[in-house]
Amino acid sequence: MSSAPLVLGIESSCDDTAAAVLRDREILSNVVMGQAELHAAYGGVVPEIAARAHAEKVDLCVEQALEGAGVSLGEIDAIAVTAGPGLIGGVLAGVMCGKGLSAATGIPLVGVNHLAGHALTPRLTEGLEFPYLMLLVSGGHCQFLRVDGPESFTRMGGTIDDAPGEAFDKTARLLGLPQPGGPHVERAAERGNAGRFPLPRPLLDRPGCDMSFSGLKTALLRARDGMVAAKGGLTETDRADLCAAFQSAVTAILAEKSRRALEAAPDVTGFAVAGGVAANGAVRAALTGIAEARNVAFVAPPLALCTDNAAMIAYAGAERLKAGKTDDLDLPARPRWPLDTRSPALLGSGRKGAKA
Ligand code: KG4
Ligand code: ZN
Repeated sequence: MSSAPLVLGIESSCDDTAAAVLRDREILSNVVMGQAELHAAYGGVVPEIAARAHAEKVDLCVEQALEGAGVSLGEIDAIAVTAGPGLIGGVLAGVMCGKGLSAATGIPLVGVNHLAGHALTPRLTEGLEFPYLMLLVSGGHCQFLRVDGPESFTRMGGTIDDAPGEAFDKTARLLGLPQPGGPHVERAAERGNAGRFPLPRPLLDRPGCDMSFSGLKTALLRARDGMVAAKGGLTETDRADLCAAFQSAVTAILAEKSRRALEAAPDVTGFAVAGGVAANGAVRAALTGIAEARNVAFVAPPLALCTDNAAMIAYAGAERLKAGKTDDLDLPARPRWPLDTRSPALLGSGRKGAKA
């Protein structure tokens, strides 16, 4: 008989309502209900629509996760819920659900930082040993974290404006490609010539691991408008070349800053990535090369666990529980919640809510 606690995880900080049941590193169920079609007409996540959808779906999501795992609520040992950072309406919907279940059953409640969920995922999927370097790179996050323990994170740098996924999405919008833009830009870039439009590589000339992506979008806009003014529109080749130039600039920035982050953390056992942008083939290849050059393992968890999910929240909750930490019913929902409170706050705040 396993003595590891059975943990129910709940996640609702952005545009995915998710619930999962986990025992130790075994994922018994992992339900994610996306909201893409609700936000599609608006070209981005609308916080009010997201909050309402979370409130409507979260109970059903929990029910499906319990059913999928073949367990009843009474068998659950702890309820782990994302308590921030994120869009406050959504976070509140999940926290209220967790509190309701905890109040009704007496099952302990554990508040989890969403970013800790992402940052601990390489331990859930690969059992990666501490300390390791983590790059969170998605539509809402972009930061390097040195992870020394389940609650010991040092932010080594991050974006000062847009997150890279956000920049991929804006690029797609500027070029008339569908949302979410990342995969479409990647596909178009495969046919493009990255050298035709020289785009800037902001902050590469400055020391440290901070990054900036919003200038890329402006440069791309200028290149696009220049061509439209000159010949009345864009050809498929123009589009492919712009996508290739953009992807190559993002890849170069992430690769060089990763190299510096690894250089500043010579004792790490591995370099892990999480977030939707980690699905990008060019980015992945460049980061693999950087890790290999320093002789550290490169870990990219399966995509379903790289993007927002509740299994990572259950896992991070289990770690807190192991340390004897639980929360009361006055657990606050926090729109901002930096993992590393010693580092100065980042300036940027992404489309999908506040970054830490
Ligand atoms: O981690 P994620 O699913 O959600 C959060 O942002 O939390 O990441 C979604 C982001 C979107 O901006 C999407 O365009 C980007 O990840 N993305 C990609 C690719 N697949 C998804 N960006 C570049 N290349 C891709 N293949
Ligand atoms: Zn996330």
